[in-house]
Amino acid sequence: MATLIPRAAKRLKMSHVATSAGGLVASRPFSAGWHHQQQQQQQQQKQASPPSADEGAKTTHFGFETVPESMKEGRVAGVFSSVASSYDTMNDLMSLGIHRLWKDHFVRSLNPGSPRIPSSSSTTTPEPEPWHILDIAGGTGDIALRLLDHATLINHDTRARVTVADINPAMLSAGRARFATSPYTSASNPRLTFVEANAEKLHSIPDASVDLYTVAFGIRNFTDKARALREAHRVLKPGGVFACLEFSKVSNPLLDAAYKRWSFAAIPLIGQLVAGDRHSYQYLVESIERFPSQPEFRDMIAEAGFLIPGEGWEDLTGGIAAIHKGVKPV
Ligand SMILES: C[S@@+](CC[C@H](N)C(=O)[O-])C[C@H]1O[C@@H](n2cnc3c(N)ncnc32)[C@H](O)[C@@H]1O
Repeated sequence: MATLIPRAAKRLKMSHVATSAGGLVASRPFSAGWHHQQQQQQQQQKQASPPSADEGAKTTHFGFETVPESMKEGRVAGVFSSVASSYDTMNDLMSLGIHRLWKDHFVRSLNPGSPRIPSSSSTTTPEPEPWHILDIAGGTGDIALRLLDHATLINHDTRARVTVADINPAMLSAGRARFATSPYTSASNPRLTFVEANAEKLHSIPDASVDLYTVAFGIRNFTDKARALREAHRVLKPGGVFACLEFSKVSNPLLDAAYKRWSFAAIPLIGQLVAGDRHSYQYLVESIERFPSQPEFRDMIAEAGFLIPGEGWEDLTGGIAAIHKGVKPV
């Protein structure tokens, strides 16, 4: 039973989701319960229907371009191979350092790691299984570092571990180099591992094996976001939490105008001057524009089978970025 306790979900402090008989159930008719039923029906319908004849010709967005789905993965790979070596510096320049605050807040809101059990009760209470956190599209490990620091320094949990999964070998090697001398990658107690994997086909990650799934500034690059969400649902344990930090839609028109001016004029220029690559940064800006709005993305998460806490998202800096969460039902 211990593995069924929704540890990560408990941290969300969701007033509308209650534990019952050791598991999570929707205790009031907030949208998630309804979404979940709908989603189950839709999934059954999808499984029953044969693949469409023109599936091979499906298109998707690569920034503002429309490209065949089969091409997107390669084009995105080109972008991140090109930006890998300057990625961390460019993040600071493009966001004026604000991405650090967003990432700190994202991780704090998830409160990863099991709090230490007081020694008086340790004879009766078995140690919980350590958290397994999967940081998808984890790139150079920015989120993983914060997750492990939080578990270790705030919750005094030295067992929680993070798998950083990313499709791009260049981003992964920048990450491995960054953590080469970190205690988190020590041979005696490795708590951080880097694996090459596509978020849409996580073959190396078993079903129901993950307590917390994070994805930061990654999902807008995926070819088939709905498929990646279904994979997230598959690999999470019942009660496990899906958490996404992504650029989103700004609600205030004045802020939106200023932000768009900055993104479209300054970011590609900074990319050209600092990283010698205007096109990749032009793509990154365009891909933000193409990403679904907060309610649209919330509905996609619900469609993948997750319960949605509250409204489903939290805007950061007026909606320039947003945190979305979902809980896999028990
Ligand atoms: C903007 S970076 C974000 C890196 C990191 N999460 C951060 O916040 O700093 C986006 C990452 O998504 C990865 N990515 C793109 N498509 C992917 C896919 N289908 N599966 C896994 N990773 C993918 C890229 O290789 C890149 O490392």
